Amino acid sequence: MKVVIVRNKEEMGKRAAAAIAEQMRAKEHFVLGLATGSTPLPLYQELIRLNKARKLDFSTTITFNLDEYVGLPPTHSQSYRRFMNANLFDHININKAATHVPDGMAKDPEAFCEAYECMMDDVGGIDYQVLGIGSNGHIAFNEPGSSLASRTRVVQLTKNTIKDNSRFFKRIQDVPTRAISMGIGTVLDAERIVMLAYGANKADAVAKALEGPITASVPASALQLHDKVTWIIVKDAATKLQLEWGR
Ligand code: PGA
Repeated sequence: MKVVIVRNKEEMGKRAAAAIAEQMRAKEHFVLGLATGSTPLPLYQELIRLNKARKLDFSTTITFNLDEYVGLPPTHSQSYRRFMNANLFDHININKAATHVPDGMAKDPEAFCEAYECMMDDVGGIDYQVLGIGSNGHIAFNEPGSSLASRTRVVQLTKNTIKDNSRFFKRIQDVPTRAISMGIGTVLDAERIVMLAYGANKADAVAKALEGPITASVPASALQLHDKVTWIIVKDAATKLQLEWGR
């Protein structure tokens, strides 16, 4: 794994965008795996800047998002489809029909999960997957204890995640209790992965994932099994690392 430690989240976003742009320019119909949350926002701002400056073209890019809440329509203020439109897709020259976010309103969510895996396969799999890490080491909605071989499926959110996410909803009862999430095995199938992290609250999870054993209790530790992962970590999230990692 490659580990890059940067000074601030703007630099994190620029480094990640540069790595993705280099691969995107080399391949038409590039398949980008995307994440929500506050972590990837500096990256999305830089991708928008590059697109507006005509330095990066999204007209043939295909995207797949990691996850979506079950029961939220795409128009809901907290749906991940709405988040992606507002924070990236509405500002770049992408064909919206080529952007995929799991359908939280699918009549048969289990069947949808299988179909989502097939859709990724049909376009040759994900070329570059963007990830953030939860303070408990989760990736997407793969909470501690998720199988390292898991595929896209319906997951039950933990009490902790529901509580964390309740800040975005009027009442805790309004927070969805289930989500559709790519599995850890699905994520590991990507050709390349970039994991982003900033903030002191991520320092423990970052250290465990990078330097601890590969274990389902730290889902992000599974990235140690992949040979083309780059971690771009802001120094406030790198304080618990023991190894030098090229510093
Ligand atoms: P955050 O969430 O980017 O909002 O910190 C990351 C995650 O929980 O995966």
